Amino acid sequence: MKELYLIGNWKMNPTSEREAKSLWKDIERTAPKRGVRTVVCPPFPYISLFKSSSSLALGAQDCFWEQDGPYTGGVSPAILKNLGCEYVIIGHSERREYFGDTDININKKLIAALKKKLRPILAVGEKTRKTFDSRGAHTNELDPIIEEQVKGALLGVSSAQVKNVIVAYEPVWAISKGKRNHIIPSAQDVLMASIYIRTILARLYSRAIAEQIPILYGGSTNSSNVEEFIKEGGIEGVLVGSASLSASEFRRMGAHMQTYADTERS
Ligand code: PGA
Repeated sequence: MKELYLIGNWKMNPTSEREAKSLWKDIERTAPKRGVRTVVCPPFPYISLFKSSSSLALGAQDCFWEQDGPYTGGVSPAILKNLGCEYVIIGHSERREYFGDTDININKKLIAALKKKLRPILAVGEKTRKTFDSRGAHTNELDPIIEEQVKGALLGVSSAQVKNVIVAYEPVWAISKGKRNHIIPSAQDVLMASIYIRTILARLYSRAIAEQIPILYGGSTNSSNVEEFIKEGGIEGVLVGSASLSASEFRRMGAHMQTYADTERS
């Protein structure tokens, strides 16, 4: 049984240092003690407030592809590494939509992050749900954009390097945008996607390497659905947005994951 990942992406929240410190402290205090690696990715200005510990690791939400130099507003993997970051999300759909990230830029960022020994969490996922074909029949077909994004991001990444990459399947249509009642995939949908991604990785590298790369799911995960995704979705963890802004909700997610990890080990 591999280690599970519970990764919180705070996005552009909270708006004050005081709230950020208190949220981090609460998450760190209640994070699972075994079987689950908990990571939180705060906004850049808060990164230097936190340090990775045995119960909670520090990550960032993005990075630039150069390590230093005249790049106004940029934050490099070297800066993040020197501040104690261990992980960095790359290619999140919100970066692709609002900040112009393309597969080419994402590839450069991923390689730059690997060079500084940061573990990239590569986010991929289709924009719209493809549940029905043009005649209205049910289809399990997966969007080829997922393959394009995985291949594009990993261009030139060696077999040795790719073992440090984590892939997060995040269908854009399932990501919560502060609204209630959004659509979420079933655990079966997530299983299909995780098998699809693992097959792409096996074709690019080898089956043995593909087995070693953690695949996570992200999109409206919370304490009521995490168990099902982990048990039946063929994934090794979750990338969590909104629910990571509530220490109690995040704690419950971690507790479910730890229980699952414990039963799998026993
Ligand atoms: P959500 O966000 O959990 O709020 O849907 C997930 C993500 O965007 O990483």
